[in-house]
Amino acid sequence: MTKLKNDTLLRALLRQPTEYTPVWMMRQAGRYLPEYNKTRARAGDFLSLCKNPDLATEVTMQPLERYSLDAAILFSDILTIPDAMGLGLYFAEGEGPKFERPLREERDIRSLTIPDPSRDLSYVMNAVSQIRKTLDNQVPLIGFSGSPFTLACYMVEGRGGTDFRQIKTMLYTRPELLHHILNVTAQSVVNYLNAQIESGAQAVMIFDTWGGILSHYNYQEFSLQYMKQILSGLRREQNGARIPNVIFTKGGGLWLENIAESGCDALGLDWTINIAEARNRVGDKVALQGNLDPAILFSTPKIIATEVEKILKDYGNGNGHIFNLGHGISQFTPPENALALIESVHSLSKKYH
Ligand code: CP3
Repeated sequence: MTKLKNDTLLRALLRQPTEYTPVWMMRQAGRYLPEYNKTRARAGDFLSLCKNPDLATEVTMQPLERYSLDAAILFSDILTIPDAMGLGLYFAEGEGPKFERPLREERDIRSLTIPDPSRDLSYVMNAVSQIRKTLDNQVPLIGFSGSPFTLACYMVEGRGGTDFRQIKTMLYTRPELLHHILNVTAQSVVNYLNAQIESGAQAVMIFDTWGGILSHYNYQEFSLQYMKQILSGLRREQNGARIPNVIFTKGGGLWLENIAESGCDALGLDWTINIAEARNRVGDKVALQGNLDPAILFSTPKIIATEVEKILKDYGNGNGHIFNLGHGISQFTPPENALALIESVHSLSKKYH
């Protein structure tokens, strides 16, 4: 078994004692870093960057070279699974993700197949093992996937930035079709995350970016249920080490108790909820990850430190907090403000441990 030089993140995810609060940032490798934009230009486009394990490793490492982050996250995208299912993912410049063949017809939905990660997503597994080698046990590597519902939103809508009219129409008029998509996708995610774990991912996170658009009646049935299915199929150990998991439903503040009972180790919070209240509501069931408003990174190092202190103080003493943003870092963030965030979390959190 390999010994990590800094395993603070893994301990915090398992609610074990740590010396300070670990921190990483969603989308920490990305367009706010000039070195990322250079590598991306060399790759040609975002998807080619994801599909080239050398370059994916290079950009994964970039934020770690600048900042003393407590984790690396695989550089990839949640839409690799629908791409491997044959939907034809592409990124139109400045317009976000799109699919050439969105899922609308019953015939196409019924013929969806579960990708084989070692064949259809080998570029992701190669990136994971190469990143692990390059990291040389400095900090743990987080693997990830989208939630079935979030993936289905893109698969049915065919693109991001919509009003979710297509998927909601399907949900209310042909729920059995949507359930079929979600079932096949959930099984695909289990295989995908387990393959990432076998290739070297030391923790995994499920991004449920769109679960929060569901009604109270539908969240459990169309999103949480399938994340539970994934959790029950997930490898919990690899080479004798626990592999903790995180579930993040953006806009899921109303359903924290239900999410905490799903069998997850940690729960991601967006910035709309007070972390003290969240901790009260979930008790000692799960660790909490979050939850600074990413827009605070447009301010100044001094304001950032004040806002960091508020969250640390609200979480309070003890274990089980992983500091993060409430959603991905914006491409317009000044890199020195990300530095201020990470240094503030490290220096201000010691007194709570
Ligand atoms: O956190 C990390 O550093 C790992 C990398 C990562 C990316 N996407 C890289 C990326 C992760 C974890 C994701 C997940 C992802 N992808 C989610 C869930 C998290 C979230 O943000 O809610 C979603 C919904 C996607 C789908 C997706 N990919 C969208 C909507 C976009 C366009 C966003 C935008 O800002 O334009 C992407 C592209 C994408 N994924 C970029 C990056 C760095 C920007 C691509 C570029 O370089 O042009």
